[in-house]
Amino acid sequence: MASIALFERQWATYRTMVSHDLMEHRALASATAAALEQWLAQRPAGQPAPAMVDLGCGDLALLAPMLQTLPLGSYTGLDLTPAVLPLAEAALGSVPYPTRWVEGDLLAWVDSDGPPVELIHSAFALHHLTDAQKGQFLRAARRRLAPGGLLLWGDVFREPGEALNAYRQRYSDRIRQGWQGLTLEQQSQVIDHLSSFDIPAERGSIEALAQQEGWSWRWAWQGTHQAEALALLTPI
Ligand SMILES: C[S@@+](CC[C@H](N)C(=O)[O-])C[C@H]1O[C@@H](n2cnc3c(N)ncnc32)[C@H](O)[C@@H]1O
Repeated sequence: MASIALFERQWATYRTMVSHDLMEHRALASATAAALEQWLAQRPAGQPAPAMVDLGCGDLALLAPMLQTLPLGSYTGLDLTPAVLPLAEAALGSVPYPTRWVEGDLLAWVDSDGPPVELIHSAFALHHLTDAQKGQFLRAARRRLAPGGLLLWGDVFREPGEALNAYRQRYSDRIRQGWQGLTLEQQSQVIDHLSSFDIPAERGSIEALAQQEGWSWRWAWQGTHQAEALALLTPI
């Protein structure tokens, strides 16, 4: 982030998007909670409580209630933007497992050495990676995930065969037509950002790439706009 003022302006816009549920965060959070509960229920008895790492955790405005009830062994919130970490820490509050708050790059984290973790979660952060970086992420995350672990990837995705420009055009149209909760200036700010920085994975190629990197891919939830979705990846 270039400055605190810029961060605050951009984060205020993002908060409005979340509170008006413009990117279907609520349904995504419910689907994430259901997927985690199912994964926990299927774990063999007697395993230690799982460690979870959240890549691009943001301020945890939506996930905090779920995280407060999960029987985790630890939770690490990692984000490139240091200003969100105290917000996330405050949103989570007191929990019965250790927490860590890390300013860092998610690609650098998966590429680093460290003990394997059972749960890796990332929501609305991986679509900023180039396709080559997404491949690098999938390869490195596979190495960082403990056997029997789960990678939860909530994000925007392109439809099968959809070109990046076509995606950006239809998402911009969706904002202009339906995001009246934002001011016109905020709508332009989001459209400028997505037109420059968003590179959502195309569904067919990312599934194939994930398989190549040793993952089994399952769509757990699809939003109503052919964009937001939750993918669950488990080691093959
Ligand atoms: C759109 S917000 C999503 C926040 C939260 N996960 C949610 O679902 O509301 C994207 C977050 O990812 C972070 N981010 C983007 N690129 C990142 C990277 N390469 N490494 C770590 N964090 C990143 C941003 O700073 C921001 O907090």
